[in-house]
Amino acid sequence: MHFNSVLISCFLFASAVLAGPLQSQQLDLLGRSSHTRTTDCAPQIFGGAFLEQNNGTFNYIHGIFPVPNVTSPAASESFVTVAIAMDGTDSCPGGVYFQVGVSFHARCKGTTEIQAQYEWGPDSAQNLTLPISVGDWIELTLITFNETTGHVFIAIFGSPGLSDDSPVQSSHPLCGKSAGWVVKSIVKHGGQTTIADFETVTFTGASAGKRGQELQGPLGASTVGFHSPKGNVSTTINDNNSLSISYLQKG
Ligand SMILES: *[C@@H]1O[C@H](CO)[C@@H](O)[C@H](O)[C@H]1NC(C)=O
Ligand SMILES: *[C@@H]1O[C@H](CO)[C@@H](O)[C@H](O)[C@H]1NC(C)=O
Ligand SMILES: *[C@@H]1O[C@H](CO)[C@@H](O)[C@H](O)[C@H]1NC(C)=O
Ligand SMILES: *[C@@H]1O[C@H](CO)[C@@H](O)[C@H](O)[C@H]1NC(C)=O
Ligand SMILES: *[C@@H]1O[C@H](CO)[C@@H](O)[C@H](O)[C@H]1NC(C)=O
Ligand SMILES: *[C@@H]1O[C@H](CO)[C@@H](O)[C@H](O)[C@H]1NC(C)=O
Repeated sequence: MHFNSVLISCFLFASAVLAGPLQSQQLDLLGRSSHTRTTDCAPQIFGGAFLEQNNGTFNYIHGIFPVPNVTSPAASESFVTVAIAMDGTDSCPGGVYFQVGVSFHARCKGTTEIQAQYEWGPDSAQNLTLPISVGDWIELTLITFNETTGHVFIAIFGSPGLSDDSPVQSSHPLCGKSAGWVVKSIVKHGGQTTIADFETVTFTGASAGKRGQELQGPLGASTVGFHSPKGNVSTTINDNNSLSISYLQKG
């Protein structure tokens, strides 16, 4: 059978499964999933973990991960983004989100392009110049100063000088209501792209909260994943500073 990749991905998200202690977060995500079936599939989360609390809880997120060897599982190009992200749920008006991470574009039986990026959605993604390779350890930090200004920091761990430190602002106000460590889709041409095989991404040093106050780890965060005919994505909280997101291909 031959499916349009947009339809496949929309279907994948429509069958998302969620597990976690925070019912409101689950409802938000489920709300968004049904929303995406009738629209052009807004930014979607394949897997990851989210802390969600009141507005204004988060102004800081941190995480470190080793760059996976991302490949295209299907006979088509595919995409994935590994990021730390603030907001992006329906609970923040407009689904506004702020993220920094690494995007992967896996060509069919070809090379994979690796690109550092930040994004204050719905503003378009901005590329950062950083020579990232498979196996590098990437350190990500996201900070907001208020609801429309922030800062991203991305560094290749252990490589002094190989980092980017960028101020970011937007006219779209954030809520500081949720913080997450995620593997996400990339939206192209108004449609959803096919998920690339990222095997397993493990975040360590995962913490979030308010700068200058006690931070939180991923214990107690809601996890996101999905089952599909082509494969599953599952998220495991390893301990209070680490979580793993895995893609299990069928067959
Ligand atoms: C990534 O995986 C592919 C397919 O298994 C393999 O051919 C390639 O050598 C791997 N690349 C790296 C950098 O490990
Ligand atoms: C960002 O980088 C990606 C991958 O390298 C590229 O396809 C895209 O065109 C770039 N975007 C901009 C705005 O330069
Ligand atoms: C947010 O902070 C920036 C930098 O400090 C400032 O220029 C801007 O006016 C602030 N915006 C709001 C809405 O407070
Ligand atoms: C959270 O903040 C947003 C934007 O500042 C606001 O529109 C929304 O009503 C707030 N939500 C709650 C529950 O306070
Ligand atoms: C997780 O770690 C944070 C500090 O990073 C701490 O404040 C919190 O109590 C820890 N939670 C648990 C359940 O151990
Ligand atoms: C995906 O999840 C479904 C439902 O739990 C399960 O039946 C299937 O074996 C899983 N597939 C893989 C590749 O793990």
